[in-house]
Amino acid sequence: MKIVPSEKIQPVWWRETSVYQIYPASFKDENGDGFGDLQGILSKLDYLKGLNVESIWLSPIYPSPLKDMGYDVSNYKEIDSRYGSLQDINVLAKELHKRGMKLVMDLVLNHTSDQHDWFKESRSSKTNSKRDWYIWRPAKYNKDGKRLPPNNWRSYFDTSAWEWDETTQEYFLHLWAPEQPDINWESPELRKAIYDIVRYWLDRGVDGFRLDVINMISKNQEFPDALVTDDRYDYQMGYKYYANGPRIHEYLKELGQILHEYNAFSVGEMPHVEDTDEVLRVVGADRRELTMIFQFDLVSLDLVPGKHKYVEGTWKLSDLKKSVKKWQSIYLTGGGWNASFIENHDQPRTVSRYLSDSPEHRAHSSKLMALFIVFQGGTPFVYQGQELALANIPRDWSISEYVDVETQNFWKLFMSGNPTQEEIQKTMDIVNMRARDNGRTPMHWDSSPNGGFCPKDVKPWMRVTEDFNEWNASSQVGKPDSVYSFWSASLGYRKAMKDAVVYGSFELLSEEDPSIVAFVRESNSTVLAVILNFTDKSVSYECPLQIGGFQVLLNNYEDLVIKENVIHLNPYQGVLFKKSLST
Ligand code: GLC
Repeated sequence: MKIVPSEKIQPVWWRETSVYQIYPASFKDENGDGFGDLQGILSKLDYLKGLNVESIWLSPIYPSPLKDMGYDVSNYKEIDSRYGSLQDINVLAKELHKRGMKLVMDLVLNHTSDQHDWFKESRSSKTNSKRDWYIWRPAKYNKDGKRLPPNNWRSYFDTSAWEWDETTQEYFLHLWAPEQPDINWESPELRKAIYDIVRYWLDRGVDGFRLDVINMISKNQEFPDALVTDDRYDYQMGYKYYANGPRIHEYLKELGQILHEYNAFSVGEMPHVEDTDEVLRVVGADRRELTMIFQFDLVSLDLVPGKHKYVEGTWKLSDLKKSVKKWQSIYLTGGGWNASFIENHDQPRTVSRYLSDSPEHRAHSSKLMALFIVFQGGTPFVYQGQELALANIPRDWSISEYVDVETQNFWKLFMSGNPTQEEIQKTMDIVNMRARDNGRTPMHWDSSPNGGFCPKDVKPWMRVTEDFNEWNASSQVGKPDSVYSFWSASLGYRKAMKDAVVYGSFELLSEEDPSIVAFVRESNSTVLAVILNFTDKSVSYECPLQIGGFQVLLNNYEDLVIKENVIHLNPYQGVLFKKSLST
């Protein structure tokens, strides 16, 4: 069935743009300290322009103790000196705007660093004026008089979500690390301070924000215990009580009001939300909350629902197709908007995770993903290195090379259970496949030592994956059949045919086909068909379209065999077809 966009979907820049996410620590080190920086980003703007991306989103670059790589902010109005200065950000905004591109910053508004002045004040005494800017609760005691946290919630980093504070004899809430206390949006003064930060960056010329876990800012104020879903853990996931909590829309409307005033872009990270009406309450065009959200279906396909991320699971193409159809329909007919993504700094590399990173199929896999991400309805997101087919960390790296707090905390907890050698190997396989570290290794710029990320005699903050010799930017830019050129061409076609790709209808074909993802995008003048073989086998696909009348715009193989309406597809082959409609 053809899904036709609602009239509420009117042309606006943030629908038309495409976004490239930069993880600044790992992008490009220009000052030679082994850590990426803003000068490094400035030196690569033409690389980005050549890729045809139109907006750049920077993961957080504010001053931070880096307990969670910058998602622990100690000052929202400055730039961490490791990355550069406010002056550098001004230059970056100017240089991007000069190229017709936009700048998106990452705002972390669910929690701060414990080194933020607000928290230092808040924890100084129970009567401090900022005490209620954070979430403080008294202890509970069991019948033996043992002190316990206020409830059983588990943090995302595998500990209790509450930390005891000796000075003021209360617990504070932290859904992530103890060094990331959650802020209390119930306080009107706190909210005022947040809105002031939002305006501060918009006034500096920033074009919008990615809003970190923004659906967690309103908590059920009773703080009830979470249901026990995994009895191997002392603590349980409590998101039922804080994901899209009671006052979320009131807060998002206040925030959205400011964003709307500046015609700003906003993408809110929204885990745990499956209720489609609830999503539309956030992104509905007439709601003025956020312009789009990151919904988690496609990055959870291989996870076991309700279980820990490091529990083994498999994924099904039918689930991927169901999810695509569902969200295209909800967003287009409901007057919302999709954020089309499958990689970011919290996810492994898709060629390794869902497709193939074998030498034979790695390039095909990444190119297939380009067609899948870029030509769906919505604003597409490309994560640094995705455009070069960067892959996961090799299996033989030891756990000590994984530097993320999430991985390290999980591993500590796992090892404390005295696992057998066999269990260790098995769990390491899963960690290697899923750890956030996979997406955070430094970029591959060329085949020189350290992949050109930092000078050769400098130790990068995180180990560079050794396949940079072969898989790097300089071997791909300017080469017509490279992965980079394929992504660039895909994004270029999206720009050139926005009537169909941005504003056109969407139809999923052959829903029951076990190997193929096929969809059509259509405007009054253009029909585009995207046909993707997601398997490692050759497939003969009987296409319901009169495909003979179409022209091939992009194909990730040199050959393409079509007989009548049967398309013979090689493993991971993906093709973009076009037909013009005479008017
Ligand atoms: C988001 C970020 C992730 C971070 C967490 C806490 O999920 O993407 O990297 O650890 O929020 O800020």
